[in-house]
Amino acid sequence: MTRANSQTPPKHFLTLLDLNPGAATGLITRATELKQRRQRGEHYRPLIGYTLAMVFEKSSTRTRVSFEAGMAQLGGTALFLSPKDTQLGRGEPIEDSARVLSRMVDVVMIRTFEHETLTRFADYSQVPVINGLTDRFHPCQLLADMQTYTEHRGPIQGRRVVFIGDGNNMCHSYINAARLFDFELHIACPPGFEPEPEILAAAADHCTLLDDPAAAVEDADLVVTDVWASMGQESEEDQRKALFADFSVTSALMARARSNALFMHCLPAHRGEEVSADVIDGPQSVVWDEAENRLHAQKALLEWLLLDQRSGSEPAH
Ligand code: CP
Ligand code: NVA
Repeated sequence: MTRANSQTPPKHFLTLLDLNPGAATGLITRATELKQRRQRGEHYRPLIGYTLAMVFEKSSTRTRVSFEAGMAQLGGTALFLSPKDTQLGRGEPIEDSARVLSRMVDVVMIRTFEHETLTRFADYSQVPVINGLTDRFHPCQLLADMQTYTEHRGPIQGRRVVFIGDGNNMCHSYINAARLFDFELHIACPPGFEPEPEILAAAADHCTLLDDPAAAVEDADLVVTDVWASMGQESEEDQRKALFADFSVTSALMARARSNALFMHCLPAHRGEEVSADVIDGPQSVVWDEAENRLHAQKALLEWLLLDQRSGSEPAH
């Protein structure tokens, strides 16, 4: 593979495992600092003159708005690129797109289907590439989730987390997070919808796979779920509704977790399917803080990728 030039390869954020535990914890701390500074009305614009290109091959509300607003708050600019309006949608090779875009902008975020599309783009990019969701992983969401847990309950290390539902991109990201943040993860999936075996095997000392949500949720400090049919699986929706019916997070299920357990969902949610309305709109739910923290966590991520080789420290400028 030949890069357009022979500079040091850029840092990327393709999965959580691109961070070491120190960098991950540093990012969470930094995200909370940036949140507090914004709440105090401080302006912090270290990215004046920087441009983020955002390639969206799937829909988004939170990811688009949090990156776009985050870049504006940091003093930079974000470009929204959809396959409908760019040559990506007309079959321009991903490698060529990577070489061209990365000569013009400072960082690229991609939301796409196959994870390999993202890694191929990163291989040919001169600038940092961020995973804004693929079929396999959604690491930006986990930064926000870890920040949210920490803000409400302190460090997540040693806690018990349960993921209930599809062994999908969110489940895979929780598996990586269990390794990185050193918590215990119970996963409850209907048969046939388990996470990928190799992702699970790499985190075997942190994860337990079960098929009974009631057993999985016992003594949990954090209960997490996600949609039963992800983007790209719309044709399977009806079939999945039947197969996942016993995997709904209801108040009866929450009652088996610890009394101070939190509930999270990356959103968008389907009330009455993967979660009941009384849970997502109830006192244990922190989904709105979780959504807001996408903004702060990704600002910390952009700062880390673009300005700072040292995790979690204030860049010198
Ligand atoms: N949670 C999340 O990534 O939301 P969007 O699909 O709206 O970006
Ligand atoms: N698993 C979901 C997450 C959405 C943010 C999906 O991929 O559609």
